[in-house]
Amino acid sequence: RDELLFSYKGIPYPITFCSPESFKALESFEARSDDVILAGYPKSGTNWLRQILTDLIAVSQKKTPGSESSASDEDLEEFPYLEVGDVEKYERMTKLPSPRFMVTHLRPENLPKSIFKNKVKILLLIRNPKDVATSFYHFSKGLASFPSYDNWDDFFRDFMTKKMPWGCYFEYVSEWSKYTDKENIMAITYEELKENRALGVKNIAAFFGIPLTEEELQLVVDRSSFQSMKKNSDKTHGTFGNIFFRKGGVSDWKNLFTEDQNEKMDKVFEEQIAGTKLGKKLKYDLYCK
Ligand code: A3P
Repeated sequence: RDELLFSYKGIPYPITFCSPESFKALESFEARSDDVILAGYPKSGTNWLRQILTDLIAVSQKKTPGSESSASDEDLEEFPYLEVGDVEKYERMTKLPSPRFMVTHLRPENLPKSIFKNKVKILLLIRNPKDVATSFYHFSKGLASFPSYDNWDDFFRDFMTKKMPWGCYFEYVSEWSKYTDKENIMAITYEELKENRALGVKNIAAFFGIPLTEEELQLVVDRSSFQSMKKNSDKTHGTFGNIFFRKGGVSDWKNLFTEDQNEKMDKVFEEQIAGTKLGKKLKYDLYCK
């Protein structure tokens, strides 16, 4: 497992996606104040929000979401994950028109300083840790370039430490919690979006200052249902469609966690993040007990 990862500033990353050289180059990346950033720990629903944001950007440019003319051009397709790719990509990104859309799994202290200096708007997505661990486990099994685990117990053990690609979930949430008061950051949970997609999309559009007609809202909401995204996934994600769009629900952790694991996670949650802003927003009692 370990040879698929390298460590940068104490956090493991998959060698097939990131490199120390790119991380070095990323430090001097110049963000623009009108960049659009989606941040989230892996398996929190990043691909879901990525589609919602891409559609909202299309609306802001007077294009119809999903139509040919709104499809991201190749340049944009190359860049969604800020920390993934070759060293020269940051140079190529300087030539892209605004608004540039980026996704990142990085913790705030490892993002380029210019993002905060230029007050770039960040949509921060969080999901309850039990479902994240469950989703991550199934994902790791399906993707050869990720460290894989023969069994859930081994995965759970590592999930509770700093060994996961992109680091420890609990540290991620507690670090980002220090930033949520900033006016350029909006936090949303997977669960609240699942409960009311229309309200979530409306709030996200308002945060980015994108006016929406009822019709446009309905289109973005319809296109972002799990069923619709899964159906479309052979076009958007090719052969990886089934890995990225698995169950798309809340509480699947109940099918995996043992009583002991459940208690362990409750304890770590209580000790490390229950008192943080994001910890409270997660409504742990509702979705994890
Ligand atoms: P599950 O494995 O629990 O099904 P990411 O995109 O960050 O890798 O997250 C993947 C998780 O988001 C998967 O969770 C996936 O099914 C879920 N997901 C993707 N699209 C979704 C949608 N439209 N609605 C709800 N969940 C979605």
